[in-house]
Amino acid sequence: MKKQLLVLLIAVFIGLGANAQTKPSETNVLVLIYSQNGGTYKMAKSIAEGIQEYPNTKATLKRVPSINTKEKLNADVEKLPIATIEELVNYDGIAFGSPVHFANISADMNYFFSQSIPLWTSRALEGKPATVFMSAGSGAGKEAAILSFWNILASHGMVIVPTGIMGTATLDKTVPQGNTPFGATSLAGSTGTRPSQSELNLAKEQGKALARVASGLRNTENIKSAKTTSAETKSDINKTLKDNNIVLPEAPKPVGNYVPFTISDHKVYINQVALKDGKILNPGKVGATVTDDQAKEATYQTMLNVIAVLKEACGGDLNKVKQCVQLTGYFNTTPEYTQHAALMNSASNLAALVFGEKGKHARATIGAASLPINSAVEIQAIFEIE
Ligand SMILES: Cc1cc2nc3c(=O)[nH]c(=O)nc-3n(C[C@H](O)[C@H](O)[C@H](O)COP(=O)(O)O)c2cc1C
Repeated sequence: MKKQLLVLLIAVFIGLGANAQTKPSETNVLVLIYSQNGGTYKMAKSIAEGIQEYPNTKATLKRVPSINTKEKLNADVEKLPIATIEELVNYDGIAFGSPVHFANISADMNYFFSQSIPLWTSRALEGKPATVFMSAGSGAGKEAAILSFWNILASHGMVIVPTGIMGTATLDKTVPQGNTPFGATSLAGSTGTRPSQSELNLAKEQGKALARVASGLRNTENIKSAKTTSAETKSDINKTLKDNNIVLPEAPKPVGNYVPFTISDHKVYINQVALKDGKILNPGKVGATVTDDQAKEATYQTMLNVIAVLKEACGGDLNKVKQCVQLTGYFNTTPEYTQHAALMNSASNLAALVFGEKGKHARATIGAASLPINSAVEIQAIFEIE
């Protein structure tokens, strides 16, 4: 009896835990900023407030890392969690905030986006709604700065949400305000007076507008996928590859007494390194001769090789894949290196993009003293197939 009660309690506990972590019906919006002195952060809080006011929508506030790690940041900004470029794909919408620096966005935000090449080439952010808000000094070049941010978002195919004439009805016209039709900004004032209430009101409206679009698009996607499920139409991996411009390489041939894959009990076992056109892409040691960006590129290539071999294992039909069970990433790193998870996301994101729900996997990442043919990365993969 006692044992049954214990099992029941554990089941209830697990149930509650799962519920607290994930609310599948909730729209999830990221507010991502760079802010040195806290002006952009204050605007971000109003943006987040507007997002949360929209029904069934959650706002998450994060910052991008500073290029200069010794830079002194506003104390509240410093405490914000730092976002990775890979996690952008996980949100239904994103509000980007930056100070105006020389009529442009801050170098730190720009640097963050310079790491988005894998997301760009895989079109992972396409169709995702985004909006831009900024904090300025005099306000010189504030609109040009928002528009230059829009260039990056447009390159990613994001759906840009502008502000139009939102908030103008309640605008205090007795003092200059940072309203623009593109997004809210704030102008500098004496300490503590800015952002003004009008600017914060507009930021809140902007947050709500983004949440409305994010929510609408998410629901459309849900309806689409519900229809697909009800019609029991199988998702076609070949179409997913084509839609995302993913071209699988030729599966690399073994260079020793082994086979490219084995199948046991419907599980396919594969190991690959970063071979591209017969050569290792970006060889060497991460943290010494190989940068994080180069390692991410090598990881993406390695995962492409894994999928190419998997296709052979499935007799040419990737639709036979039931689940990506586990990925293990080995990285050739210096002993001090700690960013393995960020590198491995290039492989995990690709698995999720190609196989959708079936691409979700357990994962391990490990640093190695050296890897075969000086590859920066090796991936071991286990897939379940029909
Ligand atoms: C390098 C640099 C360039 C700047 N250029 C501009 C500018 O072109 N126009 C402007 O209005 N303010 C400019 N500013 C002022 C910042 O936009 C302003 O201080 C902003 O509120 C800072 O945001 P934060 O408090 O979130 O760091 C500049 C500041 C710095 C440090």
